[in-house]
Amino acid sequence: MSINIRNEEEKDYRNVENLIRESFWNVYQPGCMEHYVMHCFRNDPAFIKELDMVMEEDGKLIGHAMYCHSEIKGDNGKAIPTITLGPICITNEFKRMGYGKILLDATIEKATELGFGAVINEGNIDFYGQSGFVQAKPKGIRYADDPDADYLLCLELKEGYLSEAAGTWADPEGYFVCQRDPSGFEAFEATFPYKEKLKLPGQIF
Ligand SMILES: CC(C)(COP(=O)(O)OP(=O)(O)OC[C@H]1O[C@@H](n2cnc3c(N)ncnc32)[C@H](O)[C@@H]1OP(=O)(O)O)[C@@H](O)C(=O)NCCC(=O)NCCS
Repeated sequence: MSINIRNEEEKDYRNVENLIRESFWNVYQPGCMEHYVMHCFRNDPAFIKELDMVMEEDGKLIGHAMYCHSEIKGDNGKAIPTITLGPICITNEFKRMGYGKILLDATIEKATELGFGAVINEGNIDFYGQSGFVQAKPKGIRYADDPDADYLLCLELKEGYLSEAAGTWADPEGYFVCQRDPSGFEAFEATFPYKEKLKLPGQIF
């Protein structure tokens, strides 16, 4: 088994969008939108190209992760620059075999090398906690959409970076492209093979 983690290149775009669609399909809602979010993010100024990573095993695409710029609006009036991860995914056949953690850890290492201070995003502590993420709420960081949320997670890449970061964090605008442009999303989705949308237990939307 030979794993390679590298930056996404233009030749990967459609394969990555297919991977995201297959991996997220029916997980959080009937169908999914994350492939269009990714498609549009590549042209968003908040997109961090150096942290747009693919994972291959023996040359086959099996995972992808991207990050964008975000910020905490500090209660003291100062903005604290952060980065936000997502989407991140592993191909269905390889889920729960440790690959997601390997990919996440590799992106965290790269983000640290690049000098970013902290990562903040919503997520499941069962997965992110294994890579050092903690709840943001005890640091006084509130999620704009749900101030009491304990699923807002953060990871300091520089020690103490979030020690005076009490404030509000909101999802970067790029995540709302499907709500802003539903017909653009529908047109994009129509370029993929049909898949059945199912309402399943555990979905959150
Ligand atoms: C979430 C995802 C990236 C994790 O990658 P993965 O390769 O499946 O995860 P790993 O095998 O590295 O998991 C490591 C540990 O994290 C935890 N974990 C991973 N996925 C989890 C999930 N869906 N629910 C709860 N815990 C999870 C488990 O403790 C797991 O260890 P275990 O399998 O021994 O119990 C992958 O399952 C995926 O693509 N899911 C669909 C898309 C998604 O939800 N992305 C995240 C939100 S952007």
